Amino acid sequence: DSKHLYTVVVLGASGDLAKKKTFPALFGLFKNKYLNQNTRIIGYARTKMDQSTFEGHVSHYIKLKTEEDKAALQQFLKLCSYQSGQYDKDSDFQILEKHIVEVEKTSGASARLFYMALPPTVFIPVATSLKKNNYRKNVTIRLIVEKPFGMDLESSRKLAKDLGALFTEDEIYRIDHYLGKEMVKNLMILRFANVIFGSVWNRHCIDNVQITFKEKIGTGGRGGYFDEFGIIRDVMQNHLLQILSIIAMEPPVSLDAEDVRDEKVKVLRFIPPIAKDDVLLGQYSKSEDGKEPGYLDDTTVPKGSKTPTYAAATIFIHNERWDGVPFVLKCGKALDQQKTEIRIQFKDVSGHLFKNLSRNEIVIRVQPDEAVYVKMMNKEPGLGMKTIISDLDLSYSSRFNDSVIPEAYESLILDALNGDHSNFVRDDELDAAWKIFTPILKTIDDGHIDPIPYPFGSRGPKGVSEFVANYGYTRGEQE
Ligand code: BG6
Repeated sequence: DSKHLYTVVVLGASGDLAKKKTFPALFGLFKNKYLNQNTRIIGYARTKMDQSTFEGHVSHYIKLKTEEDKAALQQFLKLCSYQSGQYDKDSDFQILEKHIVEVEKTSGASARLFYMALPPTVFIPVATSLKKNNYRKNVTIRLIVEKPFGMDLESSRKLAKDLGALFTEDEIYRIDHYLGKEMVKNLMILRFANVIFGSVWNRHCIDNVQITFKEKIGTGGRGGYFDEFGIIRDVMQNHLLQILSIIAMEPPVSLDAEDVRDEKVKVLRFIPPIAKDDVLLGQYSKSEDGKEPGYLDDTTVPKGSKTPTYAAATIFIHNERWDGVPFVLKCGKALDQQKTEIRIQFKDVSGHLFKNLSRNEIVIRVQPDEAVYVKMMNKEPGLGMKTIISDLDLSYSSRFNDSVIPEAYESLILDALNGDHSNFVRDDELDAAWKIFTPILKTIDDGHIDPIPYPFGSRGPKGVSEFVANYGYTRGEQE
């Protein structure tokens, strides 16, 4: 629906998200000519700043590699303007409206994209003011919203209801930026465009599935904010569950957004709430060399907080395809490496023809160094009949070395401009996700689970290997 020319309004333009993700993504789209060159971008936030300070803010995280990039940035900045205003003052949104109309006069734009890079507390007040002052019948309106979408099932429903009273589901684009990642977008193609994968994608062949997110950084000063949420709300309930739903969904009727999302919701509805015994929690402490502080050393974190910075949780899907197959989700901050990876582990080969075999695995490395590889048994070259585990390796850096992998936010903003909802979270999908996690989150919030401490920079809390082994994950004999 590229017929529309947009005015993009970034609300919360002085915040971290806008600076680190939204503006660099808009610039990336502009530079590569995916954004109509007449698109105007208006920043709105409480901070008072003049145009040149705003330009500095917009450019801060934009990487310029070539002279062309530098020239493109100058062009891009000409399209950007800023206005300060409160989030709860109608009169400020009226001034914003004048600003938008002014900009539209020169650009000729007929559509508006409001990007809400805002803290949850001002979410509804801003949406209300937007609806009242900046909403025009006959003008295409799109609203991009960012998590947190509530804290549990109840607050998420309230938010959905309040937002739903202002904007239609069709106008709302809920971002889960993992859905914009190249390897996550690759999942449906891997599954549904390959007979060799599609035909073994079930409980008869697959023993267990591991979805792992590891980060080296701790909460770094953001601890106070993080503490309200914890790692399950921050990463698992959204990013990892989204990955799970694409791994586990049935083939959609078509690639239309609603068909795809129907299947994702359906598979989530087959998942019962996570049981207490199926969870292992951790919280990082000081690094072994004493250089990195522990989570509780962060002065913004409440004393004695039991908020997990690491979680492993096992999910079961009670349908024909997956009954009995554990999906182990693991995520943590302040670990030994940065990696997001999906590991589909197959069952043992039956019979006794060969001894000491390792299991087949399909590994999808989401980041860094995007790759798909298949672990398989091979004959060790040479005389004799010794078996060896080896990889069928599709590493993107060597196979597609000329291709640029787009940033997740570029991909998603472009989708929103094009009116494509496939990679955004639908209201019922969110509801289903919260149903799975709300009971266990309540148990955790009530302080009924003590997180196991693990040193900053380590592999995670003790007991994780036993935890995954309990759900069938086997490290191969030959690895
Ligand atoms: C965000 C979380 O949603 O995802 C952060 O709030 C986390 O805590 C981030 O660091 C990870 O995203 P990425 O793209 O860097 O893997």
